[in-house]
Order: sequence, then C-alpha cells, then structure tokens
Amino acid sequence: MNRSMLSKFNGPHPPAPSPEGEGEKIFVCWRSPSNIALIKYWGKKEGQLPLNPSISMTLHQSYTLTCVEAEFKREPGGRIISVNGEIQHPFLLKMEKLLIWLVQEIPVLGNFIFRVETSNSFPHSTGIASSASGISAFVLCLLSIAEKVNGGEIPLLEFMKMASFASRMGSGSACRSVFGGFTLWGKTPDVTCSSDLFAIPVTERIHPSLRTLHDTILVVSSTPKSLSSSQGHSLMVNHPFKLARIRQARTTVSELMKALTLGDLNRMAELAEVEALTLHALIMSSPGGMILMEPNTVQIIRQIREARQKGLAVFFSLDAGPNVHLIYPEEAVLKVENFIREELISLCENGFLIHDHCGTGPVRTIMETQ
Ligand code: PMV
Repeated sequence: MNRSMLSKFNGPHPPAPSPEGEGEKIFVCWRSPSNIALIKYWGKKEGQLPLNPSISMTLHQSYTLTCVEAEFKREPGGRIISVNGEIQHPFLLKMEKLLIWLVQEIPVLGNFIFRVETSNSFPHSTGIASSASGISAFVLCLLSIAEKVNGGEIPLLEFMKMASFASRMGSGSACRSVFGGFTLWGKTPDVTCSSDLFAIPVTERIHPSLRTLHDTILVVSSTPKSLSSSQGHSLMVNHPFKLARIRQARTTVSELMKALTLGDLNRMAELAEVEALTLHALIMSSPGGMILMEPNTVQIIRQIREARQKGLAVFFSLDAGPNVHLIYPEEAVLKVENFIREELISLCENGFLIHDHCGTGPVRTIMETQ
C-alpha cells in the first residue's frame, strides 16, 4: 500500500546515469506554511501513523522557504551535501533520514546529490511548528525534482496528496501543511477518503466565515522547547489515559467538523480550547509530570475567556509549549487589536507577538530571499 503511493514518480523510463548527464543540475524552490492543530495529533503507532485523527488550520505568514539543488551523479548519490552551506547543519540528519526513505520509494532520487538552502519567516521557539513547514517544503522540492526527471506532470491535487504522504514520514504535522485552509489527517468515519497515511483538504466543507480566521501568536516565552515532539509522542505509548484520549479525539473531530460546517464559532472555541488543555493535561499526567505553561499562559487564557464571555469572538489554542494562539474572525480584527493592546501584550515576552491568518497552502516559487 505505502509503496504504491509514490509510484507515479517512478516514470516509465527513469534516466540511466550516463557520462553526459554527470554534473547536470535541477534547481527547485517551495514555500510551505506551518499550521496550527485545532485537534492535536499526539501519540503515534508503528509506521508514523497517528493514534487519533487531527484537524488543523494552515497559516500564511509563517512559512519555510526551501530551495534544493540536485546534481546528477554517475556514482550512487542520494546524499545531502550541505544545508545552508554547512556540512553539519542541525537539520541535515533529519532531512537525510527522510531522503533515505524517499530514495527507496523513488529510486531516481538516488542518482543525485543535494544542496539545501532553507529559512523560516518566523523566529524559533515561538509556538509555530517549524518542522511542519520545513519538512513539507523539503519534500515538495524533492518531489518536484523527481517529477521533472520523469518528465510527466502530475495533477496538482494528486501531487499534493503524495507530498502529504511523504511529509508524514518526516513529521506528522507536516503532512497537514501541504494543503491550504483546513486539513484533516487520520481516518474518521465522518469524512470519506480520510486516511492515516496522508492528510486531506476539508476547506470546501468549512463555512466561508471561518476560512478567513486570524491567528495571533502571543509569545509568552521564546526559550527553546523542553519537550521535543518525538519525546512527546512516546509519552503516549503507555499513557494511563491513552484509550480515553483516542476516544475523546475521535468524538471531538466529529463535533468540530459539524461546528466548522455550520460556521459555529462558539462551539469551535469550546472544542479547540478543551483540546489545547487536554494536550497539556496529557503531558502533565505523563511520567515526569512536565508543566509547559507559564504563569502568563494561564493569565492570557483567563483574559481570553473573560473577553469571550463579554461577547468578543476570540478563543485560544496551544502547542506543546507556553505560547498562546489567539484565534478570531476577520470582522473582530479591530476590537481584538484593542484587546491585545490593553490586556494581553503586557503578558508577552518583551511585547512579542506574531500576526498570522488562515492561508492558501504551499507555493512553488523562484529563489526570492537568498
Ligand atoms: O509533527 P510533530 O511530530 O512535530 O508533532 C506535532 C505535535 C503537536 O504540534 C503538539 C500537535 C499537532 O497536531 O500539530
């Protein structure tokens, strides 16, 4: 099943390495956004499959721009030579692991060596997942290279589905970043065609009023994460609440899909907030009992809830860290700006926040920022 997903990239006549081809280069760039999960992927099974389905909103301003230069080699390639000119860049090992897997799936990639240039539009450790944008951008570049080598253009939706499938192997949340709007990853009876192997776009089912939601990330602390995602997922293996969590997430996916379709922001707010707090509750009730929220995280949550009770259309989500995603509809922008200025900004580290909104997904681009 897994093997056949990328078979389209193994064209009928992959080029045999020839002396003439030696040194030929292909250059590809993709800009791919991060996403914020409203229903969290937390815990995985063998084969990088999720314990539960998740739903996310793709961001716009928070993206990774990655350019890959592939150089044709006669002797076996399939190696990354450098990332941002460095041969020991911190991302290199993760990218190379993914490349090794991809070469098994798409052998033609083994005829190249790769140089990668990558940069994020947002700072590190601010509550925006750089693995989601970074891994998806890298995979999109490699698949575009494979597509070009094989000479047959693959229809965009199909290309993205395969990019989602391959991105999943590098980072689960990355598989949701290849589509704009709202994305669902994981099998659920509520949505036909949903799968544990790749994410699917669900924006068409979403009420138009929710397709333009804003997300302002309130940076309470930019100290690097004390819990990596892979450590986090492994906490679920023997978690005492594992089965209850899986059940809860499945029900919440159904409920959230209904709220999203109806454009019911209040219901969406309730569900997303419980989800965010559940993620932290699961972390707190894991061995070691880690607390990732800071006092100001809790204070911000209180202010957001109080403001909502008074009629302001706002709610929060959290990643596995102290920073708060403040989510609100387009028509509330002016009021929310006041709310942030008067009540929230003083709770952020040096008044640091990042404005973003629901975006349209990755774009293949020319090198624009190098
Ligand atoms: O994709 P990973 O392995 O970095 O895990 C992401 C985990 C969360 O960000 C906490 C939740 C999610 O669904 O994005």
